[in-house]
Amino acid sequence: MSRWNVYVTNEIPKPALDMLEEFCDMEVNRTGKVLEKSVLLEKVKGRDAVLSLLTDPIDAEVMDAAKGAKIFANYAVGFNNIDIPAATERGIMVSNTPGVLTDTTAEMAWALLFSTARRVVESDKYSRMGKYEGWGPMLFLGQQVMNKTVGVIGAGRIGLSFAKRAKAFDMKVLYSDVAANPEFEKEADGQYVSLETLLQESDFVSVHTPLLPETHHLLGEREFKLMKNTAILINTSRGPVVNEAALVKALQTGEIWGAGLDVYEFEPEFAPGLLELDNAIVCPHIASATFETRTKMGIIAVTNILAAMRGELPPTCLNPEVFKKN
Ligand code: DGY
Repeated sequence: MSRWNVYVTNEIPKPALDMLEEFCDMEVNRTGKVLEKSVLLEKVKGRDAVLSLLTDPIDAEVMDAAKGAKIFANYAVGFNNIDIPAATERGIMVSNTPGVLTDTTAEMAWALLFSTARRVVESDKYSRMGKYEGWGPMLFLGQQVMNKTVGVIGAGRIGLSFAKRAKAFDMKVLYSDVAANPEFEKEADGQYVSLETLLQESDFVSVHTPLLPETHHLLGEREFKLMKNTAILINTSRGPVVNEAALVKALQTGEIWGAGLDVYEFEPEFAPGLLELDNAIVCPHIASATFETRTKMGIIAVTNILAAMRGELPPTCLNPEVFKKN
């Protein structure tokens, strides 16, 4: 079996790169920057496989430039950056990294929920600016979390992991999705409701749906109007699920109370006005960013490439119908 020639579009944790290097010839983009499309088109030429990131738009043009490539192994659970039908049409396999970032992402959603509710970032900035002059009965009042209602949009793996933790704070859990999910109800004690009911009744709304044509701008002006004025929105899924301009307006006018965000509609850009808001926490898409999880994601991506190289079905292939046994 000859060694494959693999292009890695950005640096990932060393154990994964070491594993790849043992079996393949590889080139890694070590600039730390997302590749310009023109560079990406050049770099993928003549490769057997490409390890791509969610920031790389892998469309038909890139696939044609990578003529001969057998797999694009995406270093993410989300794969909205890859045109899967175009890959399938060309007989190219695509894989993602499910499972290993479920709890890590749920953890970040809770971190954002608490930080927004209890104004952690805002009050930290205040202290650092030398403004703290002593305990005050009205200083940084926030929203209580215990005993409140949390609404989970999207009852998949991450939504469930997030919802299960609500028990620890004696919270009521509502959820909405395209269909009821008995596992979610059993494990998170969640009540299936319409999106409208969820928005009207929740104190905290956490988004865990993938980005699909049907979920694009799932939350916009109308939906923010349905939410309580004391409500907090958390988004660790994909930015375009939320109409960010409408969100900025809702935060500015007090339609909703706060937002804890990890993802943005036009990453890495922020909607005008967002960064000026004290009632929004804006993290740079780090929900899966723990040493443990990012390493596991790399190992999964490499495992998929090595399986394809051996003529085996990559374990987390998203379009297994194109797999051809050697
Ligand atoms: C993903 O994997 O889809 C996350 O957004 C980044 O880890």
